[in-house]
Amino acid sequence: MASVTILGIETSCDETAAAIVRADTAGNDANPSASNGAGGNERILSSLVLSQIDEHKLYGGVVPEIAARAHMDHLDRLIEAALEEAGIGINDVDAVAATAGPGLIGGVLVGVVTAKALSLAAAKPFIAVNHLEGHALSARLVEDVAFPYLLLLISGGHCQLLAVEGVGQYKRLGTTMDDAAGEAFDKTAKLMGLGYPGGPAVEKAAARGRAGRFALPRPLIRSDNCNFSFSGLKTAVRRQVETLRAAGELDGRAEADLAAEFQAAICDCLADRSARAMAVFRGAHEFSGPEKPAFVVAGGVAANSAIKNRLQSLASEESFRFVAPPVWLCTDNAAMIAWAGIERFQLGLTDPLDAPARARWPLDETSGPVVGSGRRGAKV
Ligand code: KG4
Ligand code: ZN
Repeated sequence: MASVTILGIETSCDETAAAIVRADTAGNDANPSASNGAGGNERILSSLVLSQIDEHKLYGGVVPEIAARAHMDHLDRLIEAALEEAGIGINDVDAVAATAGPGLIGGVLVGVVTAKALSLAAAKPFIAVNHLEGHALSARLVEDVAFPYLLLLISGGHCQLLAVEGVGQYKRLGTTMDDAAGEAFDKTAKLMGLGYPGGPAVEKAAARGRAGRFALPRPLIRSDNCNFSFSGLKTAVRRQVETLRAAGELDGRAEADLAAEFQAAICDCLADRSARAMAVFRGAHEFSGPEKPAFVVAGGVAANSAIKNRLQSLASEESFRFVAPPVWLCTDNAAMIAWAGIERFQLGLTDPLDAPARARWPLDETSGPVVGSGRRGAKV
């Protein structure tokens, strides 16, 4: 049976990652982009992720120079280990795919230069993958999800609602006008002294607390577009923390209650904006058969159980099929980059060796810039 095997490399933020993914191509040739091949005949042969959390912890966020240096120190060894775990050599891969943006440019360059060198030395095609496309297509690596589908991408650098119409075909329905959802979690955790990375720390504190004791805003809720804004929420958290601190009342109970209210506010914003996007998406696409359209949630923030549960209920109310890739595939990894490489390779989409590394790279190049969109910067 024909198959395609791709080495994927991810270095755009604070995870150094390498993976080998193999997919059967048989049955997909008529329209390779329509389906991932009826449910999982693809295989992750290896997927290694080296987190730099300890290196950045001291600074409460990702320091770009430290990240780039750490990628340089570890990437070669990680690629060797990924090949070894997959039981293959570089000559057995069909192409080398690397995140070419958006991201911290020093790190992106390390991954792109390494991928190009391997591709040149082994005479294999190079594929420049948009990190966001990696997140956007990741659900198709593990589940049979056909185009078009609605995607909510919530990570440390991005918060977008996109109609995914095919490989390389994205329509942005909404985006954040300032901070990303994960950034809001990270900054809130920092303000409350809960540590880094903030998302899991806030979720843990929220589980002990009660929403409603403090009143935080739900920015842009019910506005007639699908955009997000979280900077006002962050400012409100800061004011509340300052007030509590000045009164000597910032104890464990207050911390937990504030975390719970913050998480509830994020849930409300994400659900309200997603509901509006579902209406826009249904208006733009025909769904005549019994099959429900898919609502895919991806990105690191999708690891949050309260958020996931809320979005799952929304999907069932609005007759969407809820799809959330497993947590290890939601946070940054190279399997999703290799998978995006496979989808592109099957369509004949490879890139020249002078393809650039890009700090900014919006998925939907036709949508005008909104402050903060298509950006993936340092989380400090
Ligand atoms: O997708 P990702 O690994 O990296 C980016 O592309 O940014 O997402 C990382 C983000 C961080 O902001 C982190 O705080 C957030 O995802 N995150 C969470 C949770 N786990 C990770 N946010 C809320 N709740 C969580 N359990
Ligand atoms: Zn990411």
